[in-house]
Amino acid sequence: MNCSSCQLLTQLIMADWSHCLTFGLSVAKQASQLIMAAFKQQKEVTCKSSAADLVTQSDMKLSFDPRFIGEESVGMGENLQLTDHPTWIIDPIDGTVNFVHSFPFVAVSIAFCVNKQTEFGIVYSCVDDKVYHAQRGRGAFMNGQMLHVSGQQDVSRCVVVTEIGAERDDVALSTMTSNIFRLLKLPVHGVRALGTAAVDMCQVATGGADVYYHIGMHCWDIAASAIIVQEAGGVVMDTDGSEFDMMSRRVIAASSSTVANRIARVISAFPCCRDDAKPST
Ligand code: IPD
Repeated sequence: MNCSSCQLLTQLIMADWSHCLTFGLSVAKQASQLIMAAFKQQKEVTCKSSAADLVTQSDMKLSFDPRFIGEESVGMGENLQLTDHPTWIIDPIDGTVNFVHSFPFVAVSIAFCVNKQTEFGIVYSCVDDKVYHAQRGRGAFMNGQMLHVSGQQDVSRCVVVTEIGAERDDVALSTMTSNIFRLLKLPVHGVRALGTAAVDMCQVATGGADVYYHIGMHCWDIAASAIIVQEAGGVVMDTDGSEFDMMSRRVIAASSSTVANRIARVISAFPCCRDDAKPST
């Protein structure tokens, strides 16, 4: 390896990506302002994979450079492969159904990965003007205030957040509804759904909810909030209890590993095509 390669490698190893985080925060704020300008207006809506999987003109306008992994660029047929290269993973509007109905939970979700590891995540919850962010090893914050998970260990005292999701075939629907039935019978204190995976999962980071699980969402819905939960002291894993894989379309985010493992034993998953397997939607 020559000297300039060594220098470049050293710079990359030492990079803390704070300049990218600052840039990401300003992009998220600008995108949120555009979303709020359109929030109460009539939207042009198109269905994607199902009647519950929507895209609006605002999603398209807010989509970013196609070198990035972005919900709408993948929807237009781009390949979705996470490589070692610095990569932005972006959902310009998470909670599109909410946006279409002016239901007040929509978010911009931005994650930044290097060597397939998430360096930082930003979730801008537009209507309540809350910005959640976390940088690897530096804690998680909401509007500048440090976040901590509840630390709850007892599943019967948990508030669980989840979503039915956009899949509407019989297997997906019966799996998701029977999961909710089993959780309520445990019992847990309550089951909630805000309609945006990114904001749902951030509730675990705040301690307002104790666990979140979802099956069938995409990497751009949860890449940013996963590091936010981890940096707030939480646990993120696959719904089968294995290591978290943002491409698997399954996630549990919890206040403790005890609760995460208990939830993994109660719920089941329906089969869905990985994000990095073709074709992507
Ligand atoms: C959706 C939302 C929703 C979740 C779906 C996601 P979108 O993202 O996060 O809460 O249930 O699985 O696809 O389409 O609004 O960006």
